[in-house]
Amino acid sequence: LGPARAAEIRSLIQDIPDYPHPPVVFRDIMPLLADGAALADVTDAFASLVEADGGVDVVAGMEARGFLLGAPLATRLGVGFVPLRKAGKLPPPVEREDYELEYGTASIELRRGTLQPGARVLVVDDVLATGGTAEAAARLVQRSGGTVVALAFLLELAALGGRARLGDHTVETLLRVG
Ligand code: PRP
Ligand code: ADE
Repeated sequence: LGPARAAEIRSLIQDIPDYPHPPVVFRDIMPLLADGAALADVTDAFASLVEADGGVDVVAGMEARGFLLGAPLATRLGVGFVPLRKAGKLPPPVEREDYELEYGTASIELRRGTLQPGARVLVVDDVLATGGTAEAAARLVQRSGGTVVALAFLLELAALGGRARLGDHTVETLLRVG
């Protein structure tokens, strides 16, 4: 994304103070998803980053907003999509990781046998906040036999320090706020 287009796309993400509770500023990507040209440009920008990182065998996305960005990206790259679901939604057997996020706690699961052993995986989500969700997703992919090539996010909330929590992983973000 060039700077001008990045600014236009940023303006489609709505900042909602005190949601779901104070002092969180919720960054709502739904207006961006509703804009066809913006969704296409974001998908293309993610695809360029992945190609620069050497390509992947599969895209994995976190429920729910990671599905909305990850599935179109997988189609664009010509690879499959693997859902990392909130607990209790996938039939057993599953691997599970518990984590904390900016405004709560949760668990995600990946169905055993979904990832091919050694698969090169891109993990995708909309927002990198504290990094709790992303850290859990990376652990889940690795425990399930995959290699995390990179983690890619539409928006990084830099003040919350999520990037540091992801250690040596390659972290790609299209937009950043302080
Ligand atoms: C949001 C967002 C990321 C996560 C980021 O998901 O989509 O997955 O929080 O926060 P963190 O970096 O502090 O972990 P949420 O759990 O609200 O679920 P949703 O996508 O179903 O709305
Ligand atoms: N996930 C965690 N923190 C968030 C925020 N501030 N806005 C949107 N999604 C989030």
